[in-house]
Amino acid sequence: MKNNYLKNKVALVSGSSMGIGKAIAWELLQQGAKVILNGRDYEKLIRTKNDFSTNGFKVKSVIADIRDQDKCKFLIEQTISIYGQLDILVNNAGMSSRGSIEHSSDKNFTILSETNFTGAAHLSKYAIPFLKETKGHVIFINSVAGFRGMPFNSAYSASKMAQAALSEALRIELYDFGIHVGIAFVGFTQNDPDKKILDVDGSLVYLPKRNNLRLATAESVAKSIRIMIEKRKKRITLTGLGNLANFIFRYFPIFSNWLIWLNREKIKSQYTMIGGKKVNENAQVNNQYKEIITGVEGKVKTVLKSPNIKTY
Ligand SMILES: NC(=O)c1ccc[n+]([C@@H]2O[C@H](COP(=O)([O-])OP(=O)(O)OC[C@H]3O[C@@H](n4cnc5c(N)ncnc54)[C@H](OP(=O)(O)O)[C@@H]3O)[C@@H](O)[C@H]2O)c1
Repeated sequence: MKNNYLKNKVALVSGSSMGIGKAIAWELLQQGAKVILNGRDYEKLIRTKNDFSTNGFKVKSVIADIRDQDKCKFLIEQTISIYGQLDILVNNAGMSSRGSIEHSSDKNFTILSETNFTGAAHLSKYAIPFLKETKGHVIFINSVAGFRGMPFNSAYSASKMAQAALSEALRIELYDFGIHVGIAFVGFTQNDPDKKILDVDGSLVYLPKRNNLRLATAESVAKSIRIMIEKRKKRITLTGLGNLANFIFRYFPIFSNWLIWLNREKIKSQYTMIGGKKVNENAQVNNQYKEIITGVEGKVKTVLKSPNIKTY
Protein backbone atom coordinates (compact mmCIF):
# COMPACT_ATOMS: atom_id res chain seq x y z
CA MET A 1 0.00 0.00 0.00
CA LYS A 2 1.28 3.48 -0.87
CA ASN A 3 1.70 6.05 1.88
CA ASN A 4 3.25 8.73 -0.34
CA TYR A 5 6.38 9.07 1.81
CA LEU A 6 8.55 8.02 -1.10
CA LYS A 7 6.71 10.00 -3.76
CA ASN A 8 9.21 12.10 -5.75
CA LYS A 9 12.08 11.18 -3.43
CA VAL A 10 15.31 10.64 -5.36
CA ALA A 11 16.96 7.31 -4.67
CA LEU A 12 20.34 6.11 -5.85
CA VAL A 13 20.70 2.34 -5.58
CA SER A 14 24.24 1.13 -6.19
CA GLY A 15 24.48 -2.22 -7.97
CA SER A 16 20.88 -2.21 -9.16
CA SER A 17 21.14 -3.85 -12.57
CA MET A 18 20.11 -7.20 -11.07
CA GLY A 19 19.39 -9.16 -7.90
CA ILE A 20 18.45 -7.45 -4.66
CA GLY A 21 19.43 -3.97 -5.92
CA LYS A 22 17.11 -4.29 -8.90
CA ALA A 23 14.28 -5.44 -6.60
CA ILE A 24 14.89 -2.46 -4.29
CA ALA A 25 14.86 -0.08 -7.26
CA TRP A 26 11.57 -1.61 -8.44
CA GLU A 27 10.01 -1.40 -4.97
CA LEU A 28 10.97 2.28 -4.61
CA LEU A 29 9.73 3.10 -8.11
CA GLN A 30 6.36 1.60 -7.35
CA GLN A 31 6.08 3.92 -4.37
CA GLY A 32 6.64 6.96 -6.57
CA ALA A 33 10.37 7.48 -6.05
CA LYS A 34 12.70 8.63 -8.82
CA VAL A 35 15.45 6.06 -9.13
CA ILE A 36 18.98 6.08 -10.47
CA LEU A 37 20.27 2.64 -11.38
CA ASN A 38 23.95 1.79 -11.20
CA GLY A 39 26.29 -1.03 -12.17
CA ARG A 40 29.36 -1.59 -14.33
CA ASP A 41 27.90 -3.58 -17.18
CA TYR A 42 26.17 -1.48 -19.82
CA GLU A 43 24.12 -4.28 -21.37
CA LYS A 44 22.79 -5.43 -18.01
CA LEU A 45 21.79 -1.91 -17.01
CA ILE A 46 20.00 -1.35 -20.28
CA ARG A 47 18.12 -4.65 -19.88
CA THR A 48 16.95 -3.59 -16.43
CA LYS A 49 16.05 -0.10 -17.60
CA ASN A 50 14.01 -1.65 -20.44
CA ASP A 51 12.33 -4.11 -18.05
CA PHE A 52 11.19 -1.20 -15.94
CA SER A 53 10.07 0.96 -18.83
CA THR A 54 8.07 -1.97 -20.32
CA ASN A 55 6.24 -1.96 -17.00
CA GLY A 56 5.62 1.78 -17.15
CA PHE A 57 8.50 3.13 -15.06
CA LYS A 58 11.20 5.38 -16.47
CA VAL A 59 14.58 5.35 -14.77
CA LYS A 60 17.99 6.84 -15.33
CA SER A 61 21.13 4.79 -15.03
CA VAL A 62 24.76 5.63 -14.47
CA ILE A 63 27.63 3.27 -15.09
CA ALA A 64 30.26 3.57 -12.40
CA ASP A 65 32.56 1.13 -10.66
CA ILE A 66 32.21 1.95 -6.97
CA ARG A 67 35.65 0.47 -6.29
CA ASP A 68 37.01 3.65 -7.83
CA GLN A 69 36.69 6.67 -5.52
CA ASP A 70 36.43 9.14 -8.43
CA LYS A 71 33.60 7.10 -9.91
CA CYS A 72 31.73 7.28 -6.60
CA LYS A 73 32.00 11.06 -6.75
CA PHE A 74 30.90 10.97 -10.38
CA LEU A 75 27.88 8.82 -9.54
CA ILE A 76 26.68 11.23 -6.86
CA GLU A 77 27.37 14.25 -9.11
CA GLN A 78 25.39 12.64 -11.94
CA THR A 79 22.46 11.98 -9.60
CA ILE A 80 22.43 15.63 -8.58
CA SER A 81 22.82 16.86 -12.13
CA ILE A 82 19.91 14.68 -13.28
CA TYR A 83 17.45 15.23 -10.43
CA GLY A 84 18.88 18.18 -8.46
CA GLN A 85 18.65 16.38 -5.12
CA LEU A 86 19.32 13.12 -3.32
CA ASP A 87 17.05 11.68 -0.66
CA ILE A 88 18.09 8.05 -0.40
CA LEU A 89 21.40 6.32 -0.97
CA VAL A 90 21.19 2.54 -0.90
CA ASN A 91 24.65 1.01 -0.65
CA ASN A 92 23.75 -2.29 -2.22
CA ALA A 93 26.52 -3.11 -4.73
CA GLY A 94 28.41 -6.05 -3.37
CA MET A 95 30.68 -8.89 -4.29
CA SER A 96 31.37 -12.16 -2.51
CA SER A 97 34.06 -14.79 -2.58
CA ARG A 98 34.73 -18.11 -0.96
CA GLY A 99 37.75 -20.01 0.22
CA SER A 100 40.26 -20.29 3.03
CA ILE A 101 42.54 -17.37 3.84
CA GLU A 102 45.60 -19.46 3.01
CA HIS A 103 44.41 -20.39 -0.47
CA SER A 104 42.57 -17.22 -1.48
CA SER A 105 43.99 -15.14 -4.26
CA ASP A 106 45.43 -11.88 -2.87
CA LYS A 107 43.15 -9.87 -5.12
CA ASN A 108 40.03 -11.35 -3.53
CA PHE A 109 40.71 -9.44 -0.30
CA THR A 110 41.30 -6.21 -2.23
CA ILE A 111 38.27 -6.53 -4.48
CA LEU A 112 35.90 -7.39 -1.66
CA SER A 113 37.17 -4.69 0.60
CA GLU A 114 37.02 -2.08 -2.18
CA THR A 115 33.50 -3.10 -3.20
CA ASN A 116 31.77 -3.86 0.09
CA PHE A 117 33.59 -1.46 2.37
CA THR A 118 35.43 1.46 0.77
CA GLY A 119 32.98 1.68 -2.14
CA ALA A 120 30.11 2.15 0.32
CA ALA A 121 32.24 4.56 2.38
CA HIS A 122 33.08 6.77 -0.60
CA LEU A 123 29.54 6.84 -1.94
CA SER A 124 28.27 7.81 1.51
CA LYS A 125 30.96 10.47 1.92
CA TYR A 126 30.05 12.21 -1.35
CA ALA A 127 26.32 11.84 -0.71
CA ILE A 128 26.33 13.40 2.77
CA PRO A 129 26.32 17.11 1.75
CA PHE A 130 23.22 16.49 -0.39
CA LEU A 131 21.52 14.26 2.18
CA LYS A 132 21.91 17.02 4.75
CA GLU A 133 19.68 19.18 2.56
CA THR A 134 16.94 16.55 2.35
CA LYS A 135 17.40 14.95 5.80
CA GLY A 136 17.59 11.77 3.82
CA HIS A 137 18.67 8.20 4.26
CA VAL A 138 21.84 6.13 3.93
CA ILE A 139 21.05 2.42 3.78
CA PHE A 140 23.60 -0.39 3.88
CA ILE A 141 22.74 -3.79 2.47
CA ASN A 142 24.82 -5.96 4.72
CA SER A 143 24.70 -9.68 5.41
CA VAL A 144 24.36 -12.13 8.27
CA ALA A 145 27.99 -12.89 7.39
CA GLY A 146 28.65 -9.38 8.75
CA PHE A 147 27.86 -10.48 12.33
CA ARG A 148 31.14 -12.30 12.90
CA GLY A 149 34.17 -13.59 11.01
CA MET A 150 33.04 -16.62 9.03
CA PRO A 151 35.60 -19.32 8.23
CA PHE A 152 36.17 -19.96 4.52
CA ASN A 153 34.26 -16.76 3.79
CA SER A 154 36.54 -14.35 5.61
CA ALA A 155 37.12 -11.72 2.91
CA TYR A 156 33.36 -11.30 2.54
CA SER A 157 32.49 -11.32 6.23
CA ALA A 158 35.38 -9.00 7.13
CA SER A 159 34.36 -6.50 4.43
CA LYS A 160 30.74 -6.60 5.62
CA MET A 161 31.82 -6.23 9.27
CA ALA A 162 33.84 -3.18 8.26
CA GLN A 163 30.77 -1.82 6.50
CA ALA A 164 28.70 -2.42 9.64
CA ALA A 165 31.27 -0.48 11.69
CA LEU A 166 31.08 2.33 9.16
CA SER A 167 27.30 2.48 9.49
CA GLU A 168 27.48 2.65 13.32
CA ALA A 169 29.94 5.53 13.18
CA LEU A 170 27.98 7.32 10.48
CA ARG A 171 24.71 7.07 12.40
CA ILE A 172 26.15 9.08 15.28
CA GLU A 173 28.02 11.54 13.04
CA LEU A 174 24.85 12.31 11.10
CA TYR A 175 22.42 12.31 14.00
CA ASP A 176 22.40 16.09 14.42
CA PHE A 177 21.70 16.56 10.71
CA GLY A 178 18.55 14.45 10.79
CA ILE A 179 19.96 11.89 8.36
CA HIS A 180 18.74 8.35 8.86
CA VAL A 181 21.36 5.59 8.69
CA GLY A 182 19.98 2.07 8.40
CA ILE A 183 21.64 -1.29 8.03
CA ALA A 184 19.99 -4.49 6.85
CA PHE A 185 21.61 -7.81 7.72
CA VAL A 186 20.27 -9.91 4.88
CA GLY A 187 20.13 -13.71 5.00
CA PHE A 188 20.44 -16.15 2.10
CA THR A 189 18.41 -14.77 -0.79
CA GLN A 190 17.45 -16.13 -4.20
CA ASN A 191 19.91 -14.82 -6.72
CA ASP A 192 19.83 -13.74 -10.30
CA PRO A 193 21.14 -16.58 -12.56
CA ASP A 194 23.77 -14.09 -13.71
CA LYS A 195 25.21 -13.58 -10.20
CA LYS A 196 28.98 -13.99 -10.13
CA ILE A 197 31.30 -14.50 -7.22
CA LEU A 198 35.05 -14.77 -6.89
CA ASP A 199 36.38 -18.30 -6.76
CA VAL A 200 39.25 -18.98 -4.40
CA ASP A 201 41.78 -18.55 -7.25
CA GLY A 202 40.45 -15.07 -8.06
CA SER A 203 38.49 -16.08 -11.16
CA LEU A 204 34.83 -15.24 -11.53
CA VAL A 205 32.24 -18.03 -11.46
CA TYR A 206 28.49 -18.00 -11.72
CA LEU A 207 27.09 -18.83 -8.29
CA PRO A 208 25.65 -22.34 -8.55
CA LYS A 209 22.04 -22.78 -7.55
CA ARG A 210 21.71 -23.15 -3.78
CA ASN A 211 19.22 -25.97 -3.37
CA ASN A 212 20.12 -26.89 0.19
CA LEU A 213 19.07 -23.60 1.74
CA ARG A 214 15.79 -21.84 2.38
CA LEU A 215 16.15 -18.65 0.44
CA ALA A 216 14.27 -15.39 0.81
CA THR A 217 13.07 -13.71 -2.37
CA ALA A 218 14.74 -10.51 -3.56
CA GLU A 219 11.25 -8.95 -3.60
CA SER A 220 10.65 -9.69 0.09
CA VAL A 221 14.07 -8.25 0.96
CA ALA A 222 13.25 -5.13 -1.08
CA LYS A 223 9.93 -4.70 0.70
CA SER A 224 11.67 -4.85 4.08
CA ILE A 225 14.19 -2.24 2.91
CA ARG A 226 11.39 0.04 1.76
CA ILE A 227 9.67 -0.26 5.15
CA MET A 228 13.01 0.34 6.85
CA ILE A 229 13.35 3.62 4.95
CA GLU A 230 9.79 4.74 5.61
CA LYS A 231 10.03 3.98 9.33
CA ARG A 232 13.62 5.19 9.63
CA LYS A 233 14.62 1.91 11.26
CA LYS A 234 18.23 1.66 12.36
CA ARG A 235 18.81 -2.03 11.94
CA ILE A 236 16.92 -5.00 10.58
CA THR A 237 17.83 -8.66 10.23
CA LEU A 238 16.19 -10.71 7.52
CA THR A 239 15.20 -14.36 7.30
CA GLY A 240 14.48 -16.72 10.20
CA LEU A 241 17.99 -18.15 10.00
CA GLY A 242 19.47 -14.65 10.04
CA ASN A 243 17.49 -13.78 13.17
CA LEU A 244 18.54 -17.00 14.85
CA ALA A 245 22.20 -16.33 13.97
CA ASN A 246 21.88 -12.77 15.28
CA PHE A 247 20.44 -14.00 18.58
CA ILE A 248 23.04 -16.72 19.12
CA PHE A 249 26.03 -14.62 18.04
CA ARG A 250 24.95 -11.71 20.20
CA TYR A 251 23.87 -13.44 23.39
CA PHE A 252 25.86 -16.68 23.29
CA PRO A 253 29.19 -15.80 21.65
CA ILE A 254 31.11 -18.70 23.20
CA PHE A 255 28.42 -21.20 22.23
CA SER A 256 28.26 -19.79 18.68
CA ASN A 257 32.01 -20.08 18.35
CA TRP A 258 31.81 -23.71 19.47
CA LEU A 259 28.95 -24.36 17.01
CA ILE A 260 30.97 -23.00 14.11
CA TRP A 261 34.05 -24.96 15.23
CA LEU A 262 31.97 -28.15 15.44
CA ASN A 263 30.62 -27.61 11.92
CA ARG A 264 33.90 -26.49 10.40
CA GLU A 265 34.17 -29.40 7.96
CA LYS A 266 30.62 -28.84 6.74
CA ILE A 267 31.24 -25.11 6.34
CA LYS A 268 34.52 -25.81 4.58
CA SER A 269 32.94 -28.16 2.05
CA GLN A 270 30.16 -25.68 1.39
CA TYR A 271 32.44 -22.69 0.99
CA THR A 272 35.55 -24.00 -0.68
CA MET A 273 34.21 -26.14 -3.49
CA ILE A 274 32.17 -23.72 -5.49
CA GLY A 275 32.17 -25.33 -8.89
CA GLY A 276 29.96 -23.44 -11.26
CA LYS A 277 30.58 -22.14 -14.73
CA LYS A 278 33.58 -19.85 -15.18
CA VAL A 279 32.80 -16.39 -16.48
CA ASN A 280 34.28 -15.33 -19.78
CA GLU A 281 36.29 -12.40 -18.48
CA ASN A 282 37.09 -10.87 -21.87
CA ALA A 283 33.44 -10.29 -22.63
CA GLN A 284 33.06 -8.53 -19.29
CA VAL A 285 36.13 -6.38 -19.62
CA ASN A 286 34.92 -5.12 -23.00
CA ASN A 287 31.69 -4.05 -21.46
CA GLN A 288 33.33 -2.44 -18.50
CA TYR A 289 35.50 -0.30 -20.72
CA LYS A 290 32.46 1.64 -21.74
CA GLU A 291 31.30 4.24 -19.33
CA ILE A 292 27.87 5.37 -20.25
CA ILE A 293 25.21 7.62 -18.91
CA THR A 294 21.77 6.84 -20.20
CA GLY A 295 18.64 8.80 -19.69
CA VAL A 296 14.97 8.48 -20.51
CA GLU A 297 15.62 10.37 -23.69
CA GLY A 298 18.02 7.63 -24.73
CA LYS A 299 20.91 10.07 -24.47
CA VAL A 300 24.08 7.99 -24.45
CA LYS A 301 27.52 9.37 -23.78
CA THR A 302 30.44 7.03 -24.15
CA VAL A 303 33.81 7.65 -22.57
CA LEU A 304 36.69 5.22 -22.52
CA LYS A 305 37.73 4.12 -19.10
CA SER A 306 41.36 4.41 -18.14
CA PRO A 307 43.06 1.06 -18.70
CA ASN A 308 44.37 0.86 -15.15
CA ILE A 309 40.88 0.07 -13.89
CA LYS A 310 40.79 -3.08 -15.93
CA THR A 311 40.79 -5.63 -13.15
CA TYR A 312 37.46 -6.75 -11.80
N1 LIG B 1 22.13 -12.85 -2.46
C1 LIG B 1 22.30 -13.13 -1.19
O1 LIG B 1 22.07 -14.28 -0.74
C2 LIG B 1 22.76 -12.06 -0.23
C3 LIG B 1 22.73 -12.34 1.15
C4 LIG B 1 23.15 -11.36 2.03
C5 LIG B 1 23.55 -10.12 1.58
N2 LIG B 1 23.57 -9.87 0.25
C6 LIG B 1 24.05 -8.55 -0.18
O2 LIG B 1 23.07 -7.94 -0.99
C7 LIG B 1 23.69 -7.13 -2.00
C8 LIG B 1 23.22 -7.55 -3.37
O3 LIG B 1 23.47 -8.93 -3.53
P1 LIG B 1 22.97 -9.72 -4.83
O4 LIG B 1 22.98 -11.16 -4.49
O5 LIG B 1 21.72 -9.12 -5.34
O6 LIG B 1 24.20 -9.42 -5.80
P2 LIG B 1 24.33 -9.60 -7.40
O7 LIG B 1 23.16 -10.33 -7.94
O8 LIG B 1 25.68 -10.16 -7.60
O9 LIG B 1 24.25 -8.11 -7.94
C9 LIG B 1 25.26 -7.22 -7.61
C10 LIG B 1 24.97 -5.90 -8.27
O10 LIG B 1 26.03 -5.01 -7.94
C11 LIG B 1 26.68 -4.56 -9.14
N3 LIG B 1 28.09 -4.38 -8.81
C12 LIG B 1 28.98 -5.29 -8.39
N4 LIG B 1 30.18 -4.74 -8.19
C13 LIG B 1 30.04 -3.42 -8.49
C14 LIG B 1 30.93 -2.32 -8.49
N5 LIG B 1 32.21 -2.46 -8.16
N6 LIG B 1 30.47 -1.10 -8.87
C15 LIG B 1 29.16 -0.94 -9.22
N7 LIG B 1 28.28 -1.95 -9.23
C16 LIG B 1 28.71 -3.18 -8.88
C17 LIG B 1 26.37 -5.64 -10.17
O11 LIG B 1 26.39 -5.18 -11.52
P3 LIG B 1 27.75 -5.23 -12.41
O12 LIG B 1 28.34 -6.58 -12.21
O13 LIG B 1 27.31 -4.94 -13.79
O14 LIG B 1 28.61 -4.15 -11.86
C18 LIG B 1 24.93 -5.98 -9.79
O15 LIG B 1 24.05 -5.02 -10.30
C19 LIG B 1 25.20 -7.30 -1.81
O16 LIG B 1 25.71 -6.24 -1.05
C20 LIG B 1 25.30 -8.61 -1.05
O17 LIG B 1 26.47 -8.68 -0.27
C21 LIG B 1 23.19 -10.80 -0.68
